[in-house]
Amino acid sequence: MNKSNIPKHIAIIMDGNGRWAKEQGLNRTAGHEKGAKVVRDITMHCSNIGIKYLTLYAFSTENWNRPKLEVQFLMKLLERYFKSELPVYLKNNVKFKAIGDIGKFSNSLQKIIKDTQDKTAHCTGLTQILALNYGSRDEIVRAIQKLNYKNIQINEKNINSALDTADIPDVDLLIRTSGEIRISNFLLWQIAYAEMFFTQTYWPEFNSNELDDILSDFQKRERRFGGV
Ligand code: FPP
Repeated sequence: MNKSNIPKHIAIIMDGNGRWAKEQGLNRTAGHEKGAKVVRDITMHCSNIGIKYLTLYAFSTENWNRPKLEVQFLMKLLERYFKSELPVYLKNNVKFKAIGDIGKFSNSLQKIIKDTQDKTAHCTGLTQILALNYGSRDEIVRAIQKLNYKNIQINEKNINSALDTADIPDVDLLIRTSGEIRISNFLLWQIAYAEMFFTQTYWPEFNSNELDDILSDFQKRERRFGGV
């Protein structure tokens, strides 16, 4: 991997926690627990190699349809994650940002998300963006509603700045783990020219070596952005 030509913005659909756990003879929740550790490892690796933006799909607008106990577990896991992560973000100069409609979470989870954003706002290294109660169509609709409400003209630039990802550059590299080849309502606007990689590896087994291999592959691709 050539460190002088790394993507600015990587986005990952972290999939396969449940299947990984099942294959180990464990509960699905054990897969999410291990998945949260991988979130930390991959975030630190991206920070160390100089990636500027890492967006991770942590909870989609459709994930509420999962069994109640699994949803409850994921909510508790997120709270625990933010509590333990704040010192790690600060130590590593990582800025945290949430995208998605977090108003549907409990007050305590909303508070810890906002606190983590506020307390890391001064950090200048990697920005880790977690998609939380996120759906791309929902984000686009909310953006257009905002513009309409303020009577602002609908054009690409204005839509860009009304999205949750305003100020964040487009995705350069999109990765999905676990062998599924679909986008699942993730960053539909922002991946217009992204390079895509799909790996069979389940998220709990994804690691920095595999990410480096994907980055080497990314560097071999010629990106033309519609030109020649
Ligand atoms: C997909 O696995 C993953 C999710 C629904 C959410 C991702 C959550 C984590 C990685 C853990 C928590 C995150 C943070 C930031 C602490 P799946 O359950 O859909 O797996 P399956 O397709 O094999 O069932």
